[in-house]
Amino acid sequence: MRSRVLLVTGGAGFIGSNFILEAVRRGHAVVNLDALTYAGNMDNLASLHGNSAHTFVHGSILDSALIARLLDEHRPDAIVHFAAESHVDRSILGPAAFVDTNIIGTFTLLEAALKHARSLAEDDRKTFRFLHVSTDEVYGSLSPDEAAFHEETPYRPNSPYSASKAASDHLVRAYFHTYGLQVVTTNCSNNYGPYQFPEKLIPLMIHNAINGKSLPVYGDGQNVRDWLYVTDHCDAILTVLEDGTPGETYNVGGLNEQKNLDVVKILCTILDELHAEGAPHDRLITYVKDRPGHDRRYAIDCRKLQSSLGWSPKESFETGIRKTVQWYLDNAVWVEKIVSGEYREWITGNYASRA
Ligand code: NAD
Ligand code: TYD
Repeated sequence: MRSRVLLVTGGAGFIGSNFILEAVRRGHAVVNLDALTYAGNMDNLASLHGNSAHTFVHGSILDSALIARLLDEHRPDAIVHFAAESHVDRSILGPAAFVDTNIIGTFTLLEAALKHARSLAEDDRKTFRFLHVSTDEVYGSLSPDEAAFHEETPYRPNSPYSASKAASDHLVRAYFHTYGLQVVTTNCSNNYGPYQFPEKLIPLMIHNAINGKSLPVYGDGQNVRDWLYVTDHCDAILTVLEDGTPGETYNVGGLNEQKNLDVVKILCTILDELHAEGAPHDRLITYVKDRPGHDRRYAIDCRKLQSSLGWSPKESFETGIRKTVQWYLDNAVWVEKIVSGEYREWITGNYASRA
């Protein structure tokens, strides 16, 4: 891929920061617009300090004047839109922020992108891309024997999070069909890897296990997720950015369905080996009250991305999960800075009611 200028939103979060590290490594220049909510963390990008390929802008996708200024000043080849409220449990306890950021924020960004695209010469307008990063959760929940989600699966979102992402996907689609904005959307399964905020299943369980705290498995622990190592997701986004067809959506998945309880047990086994203190860690597993409306199973059919653009996940779950546990063991300071702040209130609020 030739070197590009990318306006990345939400680049201080989990996937966005992994994406920026990879994009800069591949020779792209990135302008990173992030509001630094509880999930944004500049420590994720510490290795880019002083690197002129990364420009950080503290601000919101709800600020249309700021976005217009950034588009005008930096004239990016593409917008890569990660910024979102992303945690299902938070969306259940406080859905308003999800409507604001995920729906109104995406709308604000689309409006600014369209205005900008219209100001470009025809050739540049055709190559300009708006890449919308979305989730498999928009498709709802699968029964055990149902075929995996494909790009034509009807949308049936069940949580305020997935409903807000579904709404944003529909807006993105409409800006292509109505206005001709050159959009592409990716719908990805659950990611894991370095820099994931320890409110999500895998980093939360690693953190709790290391600290001798209980491992709260929702319901019966038999819910299934399709786990993808984060750098494989970043690679898929860069592939779609380069070769994806405007107006198309691409499902991205790990080809790796796992029951939650099995994931937790695997983490315990790896920790027994890498962090023997506290072993056996599976004694900490505790079943807690289920998440309301908890989707039973997600699985992604990513054959379109594989066959049309030649992408496939490179990391196996065995290697990826081991690397992830090792990363959290090696980066205790990164975790400690997070868990000493607002995080404590969230943990008390979310888990006290599940006891
Ligand atoms: P995250 O919660 O770790 O990061 C979100 C980032 O967006 C944070 O840096 C936050 O500060 C920023 N942000 C929030 N509101 C903003 C605003 N108004 N303006 C600018 N920045 C704002 O999320 P993530 O897990 O990295 O997910 C990134 C994207 O990928 C999301 O759109 C999410 O829906 C999607 N996605 C995530 C997963 C997953 O497993 N984590 C899977 C599929 C798709
Ligand atoms: P999560 O990481 O929040 O991702 P998502 O809800 O977007 O799939 O949760 C992954 C799975 O793990 C989901 O089925 C809920 C479950 N889970 C637990 O059992 N315990 C927990 O403490 C958390 C945070 C999640």
